[in-house]
Amino acid sequence: AGVNPRQCPARLARMNILGIDVGGSGIKGAPVDLEAGDFAVPRLRIPTPEKSSPKNVAGVVAEIIEHFREHLPDGARIGLTIPAPVVHGRVPFIANLHKSWAGLEASAFFEDFLGRPVTLVNDADGAGLAEVHYGAAKGNDGLVIMTTLGTGIGSAIIHRGVLVPNAELGHVELDGHDAESRAASSIKDREGLSYKQWAVRLQRYYSHLEMLFSPDLFVVGGGVSKDSEKFLPQLDLKTPIVPARLRNRAGIIGAALAARDADLHPDTV
Ligand code: BGC
Repeated sequence: AGVNPRQCPARLARMNILGIDVGGSGIKGAPVDLEAGDFAVPRLRIPTPEKSSPKNVAGVVAEIIEHFREHLPDGARIGLTIPAPVVHGRVPFIANLHKSWAGLEASAFFEDFLGRPVTLVNDADGAGLAEVHYGAAKGNDGLVIMTTLGTGIGSAIIHRGVLVPNAELGHVELDGHDAESRAASSIKDREGLSYKQWAVRLQRYYSHLEMLFSPDLFVVGGGVSKDSEKFLPQLDLKTPIVPARLRNRAGIIGAALAARDADLHPDTV
């Protein structure tokens, strides 16, 4: 039976919420147990359609919802991350999916397409929220900068547990270039850089962020963070820099957290 979350917020803390993480190469989802801060059942991953238009992506999202139907309350809100800023439901620009996302009222589009409430959040913001709640930045009371190194570079700024949304620090200018076009892990692969060569670029990048923000902690996520011992020890920074603990689970868990927040505090969304 369906649960109306607005009528029973206490129940909301215990039920599973579906989180879906839309990336450049895969769309991944799982019902999340927010008490445990982990998947309630194993995730499902479907490759991102070659033409990654909003409609094609929404089709895959619908498939993932259908797959987990028996684990979820009917018509419940889902959380969805996308690799773009989301400003009051609208995507102002897109770097690593089909260009037709730019300018889209994406929240409204997904709610129409899926016929249920959807909370849309930037992928790195979602990952940052998850790391602060359950992972590498848990309990940190200062300024945390989460970066995800993948197809692009995502970022989240979190101060004393509060997210400043839509920081796009992957696009700061570095030596005359868009930073992610020099230092994302996809560039390491594309240019065949060794970890040592790549670390030189990461050093430039993180020193620049350190100078701009004076953070208390850098958290480094993205698939490559599983090999963090090959590059993080090579960086010389004043700020502690640690690998993400939730790895590739962070986006899905963060999406679910954002969806729960939207139901618990509808006035602040
Ligand atoms: C996008 C960000 C996103 C990041 C990681 C960047 O190109 O502009 O919004 O968080 O890639 O996916």
